[in-house]
Amino acid sequence: MNIVLLGAPGAGKGTQSERLVNEFGIPHISTGDILRAAVKEGTPLGKKAKGFMDAGELVPDNLIIDLMKDRLSQDDARRGFILDGFPRTTAQAAALDAALSQDGRSIDCALAIEVPADVIVERLSSRRVCRSCGHAGTASDAACPVCGGEMYQRDDDKPETIKNRLAVYENSTAPLIDYYSGAGVLVRVDGNRDVDQVYADVKAAISHD
Ligand code: AP5
Repeated sequence: MNIVLLGAPGAGKGTQSERLVNEFGIPHISTGDILRAAVKEGTPLGKKAKGFMDAGELVPDNLIIDLMKDRLSQDDARRGFILDGFPRTTAQAAALDAALSQDGRSIDCALAIEVPADVIVERLSSRRVCRSCGHAGTASDAACPVCGGEMYQRDDDKPETIKNRLAVYENSTAPLIDYYSGAGVLVRVDGNRDVDQVYADVKAAISHD
């Protein structure tokens, strides 16, 4: 099961991934999480990526594509994966297809989680993330509801940056909807509903695969 999760920032890609991992046990590969860890550790990748991330811009394709080729060649990803936040440009999507096809793999399902922009802004403004397990909750969570860890606000969840991230999504990432529709693997999901209802559709889409 090779899955791509598409959707604007805050559409619920991480939230749905958490559920898929719990149920299906396949790795959740989030470029955002990988980049944030690199920034925190001060690695060369993190140093290059930080400015782009803080501004809500995309990190250059060449940095991301090499990183993901390496990640997808690891053993755990050979029995399936959930890609969250990658690909984000048509160049990344083409590079992903080329890398997978080299060893007879392909994307089985691209799920587009659709949420109106005003709802996105509200969700991201109130999002808080657990420092220990990465669970995405809200400002009303005094502690992580999953592990009790400390909740913090991401640097890019500030109003001006959110606006730019949405613009970048429309310009660079939304064209992937057509890309995957053309490949015959796109499924659209209404993400503006209760998390459980969204997950029911996500699961149905994957099961029909
Ligand atoms: P990344 O970390 O990928 O951020 P994103 O795509 O902006 O996605 P988010 O993590 O913000 O949102 P989400 O869809 O996972 O929503 P969530 O489930 O948390 O990327 C960050 C940055 O890294 C980028 O800006 C870029 O600079 C760089 N980057 C990453 N990948 C890159 C790439 N491939 N190429 C270049 N640069 C790259 O939910 C949001 C909130 O809503 C939470 O509070 C949650 O509790 C709540 N929520 C979720 N679902 C529901 C629901 N159904 N109802 C009500 N609330 C809900």
